[in-house]
Amino acid sequence: MTNVGIIGGTGQLGSAIATAWLETRTVLPENLWVSNRSGGAGSLAKWEEIRSTTDPQQLAANCDVIVLCVPPAEANSLKLAAGDAIVISVMAGVELSDLMSISGTNRVVRAMSSPAAAFQLAYSPWFAPHSLSEDDTALVTRLLSACGLTDRIPTEDQIDHFTAMTGPVPGFVAYFADAVYEHAVKQGIADHVAQRAVQQLFLASSHVLAREGGPPREFVQEMIDYDGTTAAGLRALDQGPLKEAVSEGLVAAYDRTRSIGK
Ligand SMILES: NC(=O)c1ccc[n+]([C@@H]2O[C@H](COP(=O)([O-])OP(=O)(O)OC[C@H]3O[C@@H](n4cnc5c(N)ncnc54)[C@H](OP(=O)(O)O)[C@@H]3O)[C@@H](O)[C@H]2O)c1
Repeated sequence: MTNVGIIGGTGQLGSAIATAWLETRTVLPENLWVSNRSGGAGSLAKWEEIRSTTDPQQLAANCDVIVLCVPPAEANSLKLAAGDAIVISVMAGVELSDLMSISGTNRVVRAMSSPAAAFQLAYSPWFAPHSLSEDDTALVTRLLSACGLTDRIPTEDQIDHFTAMTGPVPGFVAYFADAVYEHAVKQGIADHVAQRAVQQLFLASSHVLAREGGPPREFVQEMIDYDGTTAAGLRALDQGPLKEAVSEGLVAAYDRTRSIGK
């Protein structure tokens, strides 16, 4: 069985990824290492067989896959000799060239994910610059699939674009939900009723969108063609600046991604 270690494994993202692996039994607790500065396995401690260390090199020496998941500003404080291990970084904005010098290997994968991994609902795209063996590709795919959905993507720059989506999109959706909630309250609907309604409507919306598959525009068009109340609302939205505003938000998040690892 492959030993897998997460440096920063007790943080928000690291523990979410670990939870996905442990709950799906993709990685068994006795095969999982976590490392941090403060010691212990944090919220993962209920899995007693997990090994924890404050020495990242001890983790590296014992693992076949090493995940780098410390804050971007801490990345350059790590100095590892990864040997033959595969190194997967999920750190925002830390470039491959830096990852290679941090880990002492060119078997480096740059990936992105999100805390939704804890519920196996993350989207975790990954990029590797070299030709990974079929076995390595299958291993990376298996680990990231356990967190939700994954795709291998063709350029490193796309990881920065996905960094500007995987984190921000849930925030954007919350912003949109808040706009709907505010509107409902202004119409005299009680706070707690508006809150419950918005939560249920957004939950159902994501389920429907995921079930429909296909480009989102097709689903939008279906509702426009149905020509009911939704169509009236969508036509009004289409006249407004919503698409441009979303695009501006994503560009701002991308610009922040490009500077966060510097
Ligand atoms: N959270 C998200 O939504 C999200 C989404 C996408 C990507 N990411 C990326 O994931 C990484 C971690 O983010 P996070 O939100 O999970 O941060 P976090 O909650 O602050 O966790 C950071 C983890 O790293 C450890 N750590 C910090 N400095 C360290 C060092 N020098 N050596 C060893 N361990 C160290 C921390 O433990 P100690 O303090 O005990 O050392 C903790 O386990 C970041 O690079 C971020 O860009 C996060």
